Amino acid sequence: MAQVTSGLRAILSIPAIYELFENVVGARRCRAAFIRDHVRPEAGERVLDVGCGTAAILAHLPEVDYCGYDISKDYVEAAGRRFGGRGRFVASLLTEHSLAGEPPFDLVLAIGLLHHLADDEAVQLLGICRAAIAQHGRLVTLDPCFDSAQSAIARRIIAFDRGQNVRTLDAYRRLASHSFPRTRAQLRNDLLRIPYTHAVLECRA
Ligand SMILES: C[S@@+](CC[C@H](N)C(=O)[O-])C[C@H]1O[C@@H](n2cnc3c(N)ncnc32)[C@H](O)[C@@H]1O
Repeated sequence: MAQVTSGLRAILSIPAIYELFENVVGARRCRAAFIRDHVRPEAGERVLDVGCGTAAILAHLPEVDYCGYDISKDYVEAAGRRFGGRGRFVASLLTEHSLAGEPPFDLVLAIGLLHHLADDEAVQLLGICRAAIAQHGRLVTLDPCFDSAQSAIARRIIAFDRGQNVRTLDAYRRLASHSFPRTRAQLRNDLLRIPYTHAVLECRA
């Protein structure tokens, strides 16, 4: 079973397979609802997308000044091929030095990222995000979430995720509280076609 799981995880690291899998489970609809209900971006905003993957979120954003960071070179190259001139795509870990000289961002997104990070890594990354955000700006995150009220099927599906640090809503909120005292945390059970629970954090600077 462990071999099957690691084989499936390796297959998902191929950008085209990852996008196909996402479309089957309803990721496009999920992103559209997430943007509409929680992000509410405005044209012209400066947007930093941490853990941007293939930058699929760009299909749901108005004309913004977009910068995406991801540690996967394959995903970042796929983002460049698909979205070329619509943004900058950087294959690198985001550090406090990465953004030196950059004007502040109106919006920072971390979609599906926090559950890949251990607590200390997540707290550090959230601190970097906080430093990158303009006074009026926001960080909005979306991650799979464990919840005592979710179905056994949702729990099983979420436990299969490649991210090894899926948390409860409260645990995600606690991570954010180190850098963002004003955080709105919400559970969503309706974003994908399959049984699934998401945590959304809206963090104000
Ligand atoms: C579940 S994917 C989400 C991708 C994209 N945000 C989306 O919505 O499709 C998580 C992404 O986080 C990236 N990642 C994991 N750890 C990271 C880190 N420390 N810094 C930047 N990216 C990271 C992975 O390479 C992967 O592309």
